[in-house]
Amino acid sequence: MKKVYVTRKIPESGITLLQRAGYSVVVSEKDGVLTKDELIAKLQKDSYDAILCLLTDTVDGDVFDAAPNAKIFANYAVGYDNIDMKEARARGITVTNTPDVLTDTVAEHTIALMLSITSRIAEGDRFMRARKYDGWAPLMLLGTDLKGKTLGILGTGRIGARVGHIASRGLGMTLCYYDIKKNEAFEKEYGAEFKSTVDEVLRVADVVTVHVPLLESTRHLINKERLSMMKKTAYLINSSRGPVIDEKALVEALRNNVIKGAALDVFENEPALAPGLSELENVVVTPHIASATEETRGKMADIAAESIVDFLSGKKPEHTIG
Ligand code: GLV
Ligand code: GLV
Repeated sequence: MKKVYVTRKIPESGITLLQRAGYSVVVSEKDGVLTKDELIAKLQKDSYDAILCLLTDTVDGDVFDAAPNAKIFANYAVGYDNIDMKEARARGITVTNTPDVLTDTVAEHTIALMLSITSRIAEGDRFMRARKYDGWAPLMLLGTDLKGKTLGILGTGRIGARVGHIASRGLGMTLCYYDIKKNEAFEKEYGAEFKSTVDEVLRVADVVTVHVPLLESTRHLINKERLSMMKKTAYLINSSRGPVIDEKALVEALRNNVIKGAALDVFENEPALAPGLSELENVVVTPHIASATEETRGKMADIAAESIVDFLSGKKPEHTIG
């Protein structure tokens, strides 16, 4: 009987799918992320044919060596910067992810972050709970309109494009974008303007939203210098990966009103926040939950499980990372 190791409790449907395929499934019982050493120890205890892992697991050569029979690692996430792809390729290990099913969900959360910071939702909520509200006032908690403003999208993959769709069609925002390749379909559909550099987007956008994968080339894509190129009235939104922004530089920029505000779902050193970040009023923070809906987390579990079933039955999983 083939054996599958799952590094943390995931929605039951994924586990059931693996069991129905006739595999023996072991799910980590730890209520939390396995450290790399713990993961290695778990894998060495038995002989697994497939691993279903999470974005919070560091998967590198040492981990691959601890499960020599596992030729597939199905990552329960769209991002796979937690996996050393070079080592995976060198060992002929298949890695899969869970794109598409979470696109709409992450885009909706991104829009929620944007509205939350521009309409001061979280701040207003804190204000109410602190019993500070003593009646309607003309100048209280003034926000920023989005209609007619420019949304600058860094990365127009599936998620960035969907955010653009909602912002353009739903909110009447004008779009500009930077991507390593021009996205002509996107330009045509939304009248989005391509900028040939990140800097050009930053200079004109009223809201900047980041949708790039974490790579060596995108680490600290938004740094002190780039923050200073943004409009003083601009907002920065990030639901991609934390290290794409130099979080310390962002705290400084927010503190000194270099930009107006930020809304973040991901952080440079999760679960820690950069010192000072959570004390600022002009920032909204959510705990890496952009894909966290009942519907989507279930679908992600099913897709990761299906990738394993496909692989173990000799088929190439649809979401194999090239
Ligand atoms: C979440 O961050 C994901 O990559 O799925
Ligand atoms: C993520 O997978 C994206 O394409 O935006």
